[in-house]
Amino acid sequence: MSASPTLAIAPTASAGLDLARIRAEFPILRQRVHGKPLVYLDNAASAQRPKAVIDAISECYSTYYANIHRGVHLLSERSTAAYEGAREKVRAFLNAASVQEIIFTRNTTESINLVASSFGGSTVKTGDEIVITGMEHHSNIVPWQLLCERTGARLKVAPFTDAGELILDEYERLLDSGRVKLAAFVHLSNALGTLNPVQRMIELAHARGIPTLVDGAQSIPHVAVDVRALDCEFYAFSSHKIYGPSGVGVLYGKQALLEAMPPYQGGGDMIRLVTFEKTEYADLPNKFEAGTPNIAGVIGLGAALDWVNAIGLDAVAAHEHELLDYATAQLQEIPGLKIMGTARDKAALAAFTIQGIHPHDIGTILDREGVAIRAGHHCAQPVMQRYGVPATARASFAVYNTRDEVDALVKALWKVKELFE
Ligand code: ALA
Repeated sequence: MSASPTLAIAPTASAGLDLARIRAEFPILRQRVHGKPLVYLDNAASAQRPKAVIDAISECYSTYYANIHRGVHLLSERSTAAYEGAREKVRAFLNAASVQEIIFTRNTTESINLVASSFGGSTVKTGDEIVITGMEHHSNIVPWQLLCERTGARLKVAPFTDAGELILDEYERLLDSGRVKLAAFVHLSNALGTLNPVQRMIELAHARGIPTLVDGAQSIPHVAVDVRALDCEFYAFSSHKIYGPSGVGVLYGKQALLEAMPPYQGGGDMIRLVTFEKTEYADLPNKFEAGTPNIAGVIGLGAALDWVNAIGLDAVAAHEHELLDYATAQLQEIPGLKIMGTARDKAALAAFTIQGIHPHDIGTILDREGVAIRAGHHCAQPVMQRYGVPATARASFAVYNTRDEVDALVKALWKVKELFE
């Protein structure tokens, strides 16, 4: 692998975005892999970081890092201010009512586990039901299975069509049992690209008095989220999908619910008073943030949200839609290629198989051409089972991707075809 000081792929303007300027902010994109310009199309797994985020983390460690909420010294005060400043940025990004509703975790997975353990553990009983959809990531399946094993509750799964669209009537029917304690569903499917009608799904649940959790791991860099307009009880996402560092996640929860829930983990910073007889817990949000958190990571997430806000999510979404349409049209020209996930409301990614060629072979050959995609079950094995395939290849887009990169993907796929003929 060798680094090149110039842009690997010639950018073009799209949706009013200055792609040359945007790409120039991502040092990692300026390189060649296997002698070819890097074409990074594995953004659904993890996006790359702009210099503003890298600099914010570096500045924290270089100039003011100390533990937070504890010190009386200047560095601790500065770190605390920056960390809590990032919480306010997340609040504003989600339009939450209060910073007390923003809990920092390690990732979406931990945010969902927190809800399953704390909310689920304190409210779900034998015979109760949790409703999810058939297109969930493992992180929105396994925590509920663990809860069901502990409590004797049951997991109910709303099916989806061959196109990858949720069957809303079936979802609604599952909500009608009178035993459902929570509906938990993905906003944007990482395996299909389907954008679920989450507003409607929340309304249907609320009409029956059922609280909701939205898995926003994939939607957060592509769709503007307003938790007050959605009115969901919980919304979970990860920093690393939205150009922030890995190891940081967010759980939004309605304040009244979070206040009623027991702590998820015990330890430092989540207490008001500890004796050997009993512990009084700290107020929100600290009650759910035991131990020293990923301080620089949270500050990096704040910088990432500033960066996205400066571009505007609407412009990002328009650009990515254009790329997805452009890619879809070209992929459909390739004989034997089948796109998995053709929902009318879709975003950000194209998952596909090519007849007679294993997705891992596709991924490996594409890598030799400089094109990074993901091949596998995408932590969504039930989706693979639904279509009767072990795996798919998946190209996923971010704000810095270009039409030239889609061309490079398609050219490399034609090469895959030639090699297997
Ligand atoms: N869940 C991530 C993906 O879809 C890792 O690739």
